[in-house]
Amino acid sequence: MGSVSLNIRDGTARFRRATLCSSAVHLLMLASVFTTNLFALYAFTSAPSPSAVPAFFRHHPGVGGGRGNVSVISDHVSLIVREIEASERRLHMIERELAGYDTLDTSKPSLPSELKLFLAHHPLPLGRDARSGITEMVASVAHSCARSPAAELLARYMSYRPAAPCPTDEYLLPQKLVAKACEPLPRRRCLSRPAASSAAIPRLSFAQSLWNPGAKNPGAGIYGIDKQMWVKPRSKNDFLIDDVLALGSGGIRIGFDIGGGAANFAARMAERNVTVVTSTLEIGGKPMNEFVAARGLFPLLLSPAQRFPFYDSVFDLVHAINALDEGGAPSLGQASRTEALEFFMFDIDRVLRAGGLFWLDNYLCADDHRKRTVTRLLERLGYKKLKWVVGEKADASSSGKTQIRLSAVLQKPARSRTESHSPENR
Ligand SMILES: *[C@@H]1O[C@H](CO)[C@@H](O)[C@H](O)[C@H]1NC(C)=O
Ligand SMILES: *[C@@H]1O[C@H](CO)[C@@H](O)[C@H](O)[C@H]1NC(C)=O
Repeated sequence: MGSVSLNIRDGTARFRRATLCSSAVHLLMLASVFTTNLFALYAFTSAPSPSAVPAFFRHHPGVGGGRGNVSVISDHVSLIVREIEASERRLHMIERELAGYDTLDTSKPSLPSELKLFLAHHPLPLGRDARSGITEMVASVAHSCARSPAAELLARYMSYRPAAPCPTDEYLLPQKLVAKACEPLPRRRCLSRPAASSAAIPRLSFAQSLWNPGAKNPGAGIYGIDKQMWVKPRSKNDFLIDDVLALGSGGIRIGFDIGGGAANFAARMAERNVTVVTSTLEIGGKPMNEFVAARGLFPLLLSPAQRFPFYDSVFDLVHAINALDEGGAPSLGQASRTEALEFFMFDIDRVLRAGGLFWLDNYLCADDHRKRTVTRLLERLGYKKLKWVVGEKADASSSGKTQIRLSAVLQKPARSRTESHSPENR
């Protein structure tokens, strides 16, 4: 998070899907607002014309009676004005709702000053940049941060003293915010305090450090050191790392492991001179990133809701264990939604080069329907199945349900630039 990002446009707006029902309600409300305004317009424009003055006015221009009737009319007018104002407020609300987001109101006094400073637009010191045409830098936080309860959490998160040690009392706060689609996190100006356990421990040199990181093993399985995976298969769904590398016929040099836990995959790849970046979250406050770094590997703190911070077609290999379901992060809607899966899969496709490999490793399908959805999507993307294994075994924990595991190595096709690639067209 230490980098300065130049956000020209606000890339973090998240839009809600308008349902058919809510669209109908919006239309109805718009219509009602419109007719009220029409009626008001009519009342105003027609009143001054003499012909429109009520009959009793013209026939009884007497002072007392006229004034009484005028006050009745002015009562009506003020009623209409109030109605118009209410309609405008409603219209404003509808507009916000249709746009799909709320924005942080930086004029609110309850907002911590550090957050206001962070969100303020900064003019470029040398004026307009000729190449991009921009004149100021804009820091962004997701619009979801403005909503309750994220807004309260954000205010708490941003209440700190600049240049002083960062507060550590609520160490799960960042994770809670990210889980509410509030990112990037805007805390940028305090001194971080690493866990005492990792302070000043000497590191072994690389390759030795892979399996002796000199840091406390944070967990088990993919969340801790595992020396079996990809070298000693436990089931037919486990592929050998060397077999997969052979499928890439020597062209696998850099890779991305999504949701890679303690980075065992990157460690095995490093032994084979393949550089792998591991995205890993601080699950339950466990210091996963610190651990991966202690192994001499590259940790990337990245929530599943984010677009991958890499340019198109850069990786030879993308590896994912169960990240597919995390693709349905809160901000992307329910995990079971096909769209949530597509946001994720199309992004994998984007960062993978043509001819590169996507290794879907032991993906635990929630049910057969899910398996079919994933299969269909991969086929629509036109990937070549180099390996494809569906394993079923009885779920040990629950009553007689079978677990479906899908493992596959798929090769991204070369697509011509002009080829229209809407999956529906295929
Ligand atoms: C309005 O004018 C009518 C006719 O002159 C009169 O009868 C009536 O009392 C007036 N109303 C008021 C509220 O003064
Ligand atoms: C990795 O690179 C080093 C240095 O170039 C080389 O000595 C070693 O054999 C390579 N290892 C593998 C598995 O290719």
